[in-house]
Amino acid sequence: MEKMLYAEALKARENAYAPFSGFQVGAALLTEDGQVYTGVNIENSSYGATICAERTAFVKAISEGHRKFKALAVTAGDEQEALPCGICRQFMYEFSPELEIITGTDEENLNIRTLKELLPLGFRLEK
Ligand code: THU
Repeated sequence: MEKMLYAEALKARENAYAPFSGFQVGAALLTEDGQVYTGVNIENSSYGATICAERTAFVKAISEGHRKFKALAVTAGDEQEALPCGICRQFMYEFSPELEIITGTDEENLNIRTLKELLPLGFRLEK
């Protein structure tokens, strides 16, 4: 499952829009019921309006009605491991603190961590 999701993220990365940083990122998100949503980073001339690949994948899935997720793979290719930024960690924590995060530069050597490991004591409103 991890390798398959990583491969999907790598394929999605081809559509990244990153003319400013040149750092192209792809993500693939596995929903609880087995569907895969991909995402890419989309930069903007107003830099702060940029959205990361992870949030793009989440936004696509959430807007199609999904709320629970099993795993997310994220990749920037073979140069550097793409670890989710702080905003993405908090964004994802809202839905799935136990999410499995798959990262790495090579599908044969993937790093698997839970979102909780990446964001200990994350914030959620008590509803
Ligand atoms: N970026 C992501 O899309 N995901 C990450 O995990 C790390 C950073 C993007 C944001 C920006 O477009 C570029 O990478 C450089 O920071």
